[in-house]
Amino acid sequence: FTCDLIRNFSIIAHIDHGKSTLADRLLELTGTIKKKEVGKNEQVLDKLKVERERGITVKAQTASMMHTFNGKPHVLNLIDTPGHVDFAWEVSRSLAACQGALLLVDASQGVQAQTISVFHIAQERGLKIIPVLNKIDLPAAQPERIAAQMQATFGTDPADIIHISAKTGKGVEDVLQAIIDRIPPPSGAPTAPLKAFLFDSLYDRYRGVISLVAVQDGILKKGDRVASCHTNKKYEVQEIGIMHPEEIPVNGLYPGQVGYIACNMKESSEAHIGDTLYRVGTAVDPMPGFKPAQAMVYAGIFPVETSDFPKLEESIKRLALTDRSVTVQRESSTALGQGNRLGFLGTLHMDVFRQRLEDEHDANIIVTAPTVPYKIVYKDKEVYVSNPTEFPDAVDAASKVKEIQEPIVKASIIVPEEYFGDMMDLCFTHRAEDLDHRYLDAGTGTSSSRIILTCTIPLSEIVTDFFDQLKSRSSGFASFDYEEAGYKASDLVKIVFLLNAKPVDALALIVHRSHEDAIGKEWVKKLVKVIPRQMFEVPIQAAVGKKIIARETLKAYRADVTAGLYGGHVERKMKVLERQKEGKARMKRMGSVNLPQEAFFEIMSSK
Ligand code: GTP
Repeated sequence: FTCDLIRNFSIIAHIDHGKSTLADRLLELTGTIKKKEVGKNEQVLDKLKVERERGITVKAQTASMMHTFNGKPHVLNLIDTPGHVDFAWEVSRSLAACQGALLLVDASQGVQAQTISVFHIAQERGLKIIPVLNKIDLPAAQPERIAAQMQATFGTDPADIIHISAKTGKGVEDVLQAIIDRIPPPSGAPTAPLKAFLFDSLYDRYRGVISLVAVQDGILKKGDRVASCHTNKKYEVQEIGIMHPEEIPVNGLYPGQVGYIACNMKESSEAHIGDTLYRVGTAVDPMPGFKPAQAMVYAGIFPVETSDFPKLEESIKRLALTDRSVTVQRESSTALGQGNRLGFLGTLHMDVFRQRLEDEHDANIIVTAPTVPYKIVYKDKEVYVSNPTEFPDAVDAASKVKEIQEPIVKASIIVPEEYFGDMMDLCFTHRAEDLDHRYLDAGTGTSSSRIILTCTIPLSEIVTDFFDQLKSRSSGFASFDYEEAGYKASDLVKIVFLLNAKPVDALALIVHRSHEDAIGKEWVKKLVKVIPRQMFEVPIQAAVGKKIIARETLKAYRADVTAGLYGGHVERKMKVLERQKEGKARMKRMGSVNLPQEAFFEIMSSK
């Protein structure tokens, strides 16, 4: 055995530039999977239903390939990474197990926002980067122009760029050769004390937690007693193997190898991402770990039928086991009953989780409006609040609140020149500051120059409709990425909605003062549409502190269901009343107002 015969790499790219397609071609070329019939476009490494439907990779997958070069069998470990902005943390984690990365760029679209961010992550980690231009089969491909863009943006030598079509397979052999020639093999000593880097974990119903590890030094074998640098807990390795891409048990993992182990971890929190495993009885320095993923967007999830709560909570727990970046807490609301408050990396992450709950767990749920974590500064302490119900009503001496701060991000948008004005406008209406821009390239006769626009913008502004508007106002041409940029003082207020003068906790929102009127009015209009009429008139109001900022009136409705029935038909009359009573049972009494749980579903899902 020797490390020289191993290469560990990732494919990094902007969403849709063809990572999964290239991964499939590499797996086919190395005989890891059978070649698929032409026209079939199911990807092997993308496994979740939501990933197939949305065509995005959510969870990174790993596959080991065997390939013979110059008569020597090599092991190529591909660590797949997701491409969406929400999942930068997963990208960084996958790259920690690699020595090189294929930087894939669509030859018709060119460098996009995430191309730049993943390039930086790879560069910071010191990886060898192989530039690859994909989709050269497309009539709209402009490989020379995009190569020049890459040179201008990353300092790439155009001579180093490999031109391929992952779809037809053209040029993919060259990629395989470049992986061997350009990416350094991992370094590690089989005789040194065992050091294995834990970079991902899966959950299996029967075997518990399965950890994915990259062995740095030493040899990891079945039956070994290992311990975690992070928790000091000890485990016995029950099963060990490689992902091919299905699990294949092996006798041992050598330095530089990537594989899985099952070692009786019961809770997925025991598999700490970024942890170092060592052999019990030896002493090692842990490898540099990760800062844990930070939830940026929070929302309450409640069952449509309140009695479904235990089942829903169980489903949420199960799903959270497969997605370590979700945080879960109990929450209860007078309006919606028992539920959970979940923290996500971003809104796409939230949508994906919601869809998985619905698809895989058949859950019927209400998701409250997303909230970012706000920082409430008191005289003597700072408190983070991610639930509008805990947000103070005012910043004043009485509430002891000195200041409220909100998270801001540094955003970059790449867009063809003709949409630049629209993008500036979009940024301004979303409270962006420090706007700056520069040209990415000069454009050609047939296509315009691209501009990269950067700004700082409150995170709360981009968790609502920003992404949708960005896409629609740029005809889909704009790409977008952001990174955290700390906290900033801001004039934020809590809007409370009142039904018949009683506040409804689940509807509270936190907004910037400049948006309070517009949002108050919009929500009141929405509410009057979805709340069923009552026996009496109901005022629907939006309030900030004591001030009413919007109002609509829900007209009274006299539901005299028996009016049309005469004298003798007592039986029928009883039945009608019975049915009406059943209807009532499903209502929630909000103060004096009857509100079906479904109304919340409609409010939260209407845009
Ligand atoms: P995420 O997993 O969401 O990050 O996307 P991805 O980068 O894995 O992209 P994927 O492989 O799913 O490809 C996106 C689309 O581009 C699919 O419709 C592919 O069929 C198509 N595609 C990929 N490579 C090529 C290519 O070389 N030529 C052409 N014409 N289409 C391609």
